[in-house]
Amino acid sequence: MDVDEWDIRYRQAREGHYTRLWSALPAQLVQDTVAPWTPGRALDLATGDGRNAIWLAARSWSVTGLDFSAEAIAQAGEHARAAGVDVDWLVADATTWQPPERFDLVTVMYLHLPEVQFRSLLARALGWLAPGGHLLVLGHDRANIAAGGPGPGNPDILYTPELLSSIVGPERVVRCETVSRDLATDPESPADIRGAALDTILVATA
Ligand SMILES: C[S@@+](CC[C@H](N)C(=O)[O-])C[C@H]1O[C@@H](n2cnc3c(N)ncnc32)[C@H](O)[C@@H]1O
Repeated sequence: MDVDEWDIRYRQAREGHYTRLWSALPAQLVQDTVAPWTPGRALDLATGDGRNAIWLAARSWSVTGLDFSAEAIAQAGEHARAAGVDVDWLVADATTWQPPERFDLVTVMYLHLPEVQFRSLLARALGWLAPGGHLLVLGHDRANIAAGGPGPGNPDILYTPELLSSIVGPERVVRCETVSRDLATDPESPADIRGAALDTILVATA
C-alpha cells in the first residue's frame, strides 16, 4: 500500500466504526520483551497511530515515532496527548529517512514491504543502534496465511525467521522465531477477532 492508501485507511478508521485502526497497546510479546530493558532513546519505525511509541514513552523511554502517513501521525499525536506523554512525531518515509542520532532501541512492528526494500531498511536500522542497543522486529509470519490468521495474504511481503536472521546476521540474533498470538487476549486489531495468528519476532543487538 502506498502513502495515500494508508492515509485513507486511517481516515476511514477514524470516521467509521473504529476509532483506532490498531489496538491501543503493543502486542503482549513486545511488552514482555521490552519491560526488562533500561529506558533510553527509542525509534518506532512505521509507528502507525502510535501504540508502541506511546507505550514506550509512558515507560520513560525518549521516543521518536515515524510514519509516512500524515493522518496516522496526526492520530498518534492525539492519542499521546490523551495519554499525557511526549513523543517526537515525524512524517517521513522510513526507506529513505536518515536519523540524526543513535538509538538504544529501534522497533519495527508489522511493517511489510517488498523484500529488497525491507532488507535494506532493516540493515540500515541495525546501524542506527547505539552500543548495547536492541532492534526489535515483529510482524506477520509467512506461515500465518496457511494458519488462517488475519493479515496480508501476499507471502512475498511476510517474514520468516530465516529471512530476518539473514538480514541482521546470526551473530547479532538474540531471538528469532515464529510465535503464535492469541487474538482474543492479544489483539493486533480492535475488531472482535478470535483464534490465533503466527508472527515472526526478531531481537537483535548492535
Ligand atoms: C500495519 S501498520 C503497523 C503500525 C504500527 N507499527 C503498529 O504495529 O501498530 C503499517 C504502518 O506502516 C506505515 N508504512 C508503510 N510503509 C512505510 C514507509 N515506507 N515509511 C514509513 N511508514 C510506512 C503505514 O503508514 C502504516 O502506518
